[in-house]
Amino acid sequence: MIRPAELIQRKRDGGELSASELSELIVGYARGEVPDYQLAAFCMAVFFRGLSAAETFALTDAMVRSGETIDLGAALGRKVVDKHSTGGVGDKTSLAVGPIVAACGVPLGKMSGRGLGHTGGTLDKLESIPGYRTELSLDEFVAQVRDIGLAIVGQTADLVPADKLLYGLRDVTATVDQHSLIAASIMSKKLAAGAQAIVLDVKVGDGAFMRTLDDARRLAETMLEIGNRAGREVVCLLTDMDQPLGAAVGNALEVKEARDTVRGRGPADFTELVLDACARLLALSDLGVDEAEGRRRAESAVADGSADEAWCRWIEAQGGTADEAALPVAPVVHEVRAERGGYVSRLGAIRIGNAALHLGAGRRTKDDAIDHSVGVVCLAKHGDAVEPGQTLALVHARDEESAAAAALEVDSAYELSAEQPAVRSVLLEVVR
Ligand code: URA
Repeated sequence: MIRPAELIQRKRDGGELSASELSELIVGYARGEVPDYQLAAFCMAVFFRGLSAAETFALTDAMVRSGETIDLGAALGRKVVDKHSTGGVGDKTSLAVGPIVAACGVPLGKMSGRGLGHTGGTLDKLESIPGYRTELSLDEFVAQVRDIGLAIVGQTADLVPADKLLYGLRDVTATVDQHSLIAASIMSKKLAAGAQAIVLDVKVGDGAFMRTLDDARRLAETMLEIGNRAGREVVCLLTDMDQPLGAAVGNALEVKEARDTVRGRGPADFTELVLDACARLLALSDLGVDEAEGRRRAESAVADGSADEAWCRWIEAQGGTADEAALPVAPVVHEVRAERGGYVSRLGAIRIGNAALHLGAGRRTKDDAIDHSVGVVCLAKHGDAVEPGQTLALVHARDEESAAAAALEVDSAYELSAEQPAVRSVLLEVVR
């Protein structure tokens, strides 16, 4: 039997832990045999000393083994793909990618999380659709992926229970932003949920966990290595999170923008990322196409309406209504106008994320309730020319008071300059 204090001490002093030691520690923690305070000390030791590639894989593997796993591929007799984002502001990518990929004939089964702090969660967005069920039984989940080609659900309590516990602990002990811990957390859920090929969207910038390209690259390489050791194909996209993705930030607003994008009417940066992710997922699938052909098929699913049909099939199969008029609408819409003219040289993602959070679109603690109707729509983005008095953004709020406070925050997120800044692409780098 391991002594947790010895393992913490060894890691604190820069030593290496074996796979069996990490396994006992994590499985013991998940069973309630190792207390929170020892795992908190362990996470802090890892924060300062890091984990080797072998330790990171062993940690991930132990987390996977803390609960049940699903073999979606075997259940469907098909290669199943998945995508995951490390989280950002306005990141509704899965909502648009899912139906496009499904319309191209590739099954996608995804377990998503909730948002915390300034980053939104896919589940919260989906719950703004009246009737949508985020909790399916495992049998229902598998049946829906098989019959409809797409299901997006919440993570079941039995899938990687160690991550649920550990993530909650890291969140309150300042140990979230360590690349091995993030990689193990994300990859344990991806491996347990059973997809054979995974596209990972690693967000970089002001509104992301990874602030620099170097840090994002390191996280991507760590996740890639875990995936490869586990026999999964992984492609990592490093994408811009210095400004919000697309225009909408806030749950129902993002659902509407994702649907617009599936119909070919989405904002340019978001559409580009969605089509790129679809192309890579199709190339990893069993369709036998390359990325160029994947892109062509994704574009035609949008253009011919089959992606929108897949959207309706998916939402309705999961108990929701595909009627956009049923989405909640905020009673107050407040315009944020430019005081002077110029080019948008900066649109801080974190400030917009915080404005949406303060409006009630997100939660500060895990138990906060969410107002699905509120948020911010950024009409002017990085590089855009604006005239004096032009509307930069719309604040959707539950009352005038919260709208006015959020408008100040949104206004402070915008910086204007006389010269047009260099164009920034949403896709920064691909790591594979
Ligand atoms: N997302 C996760 O699932 N886990 C982390 O640790 C960070 C982001």
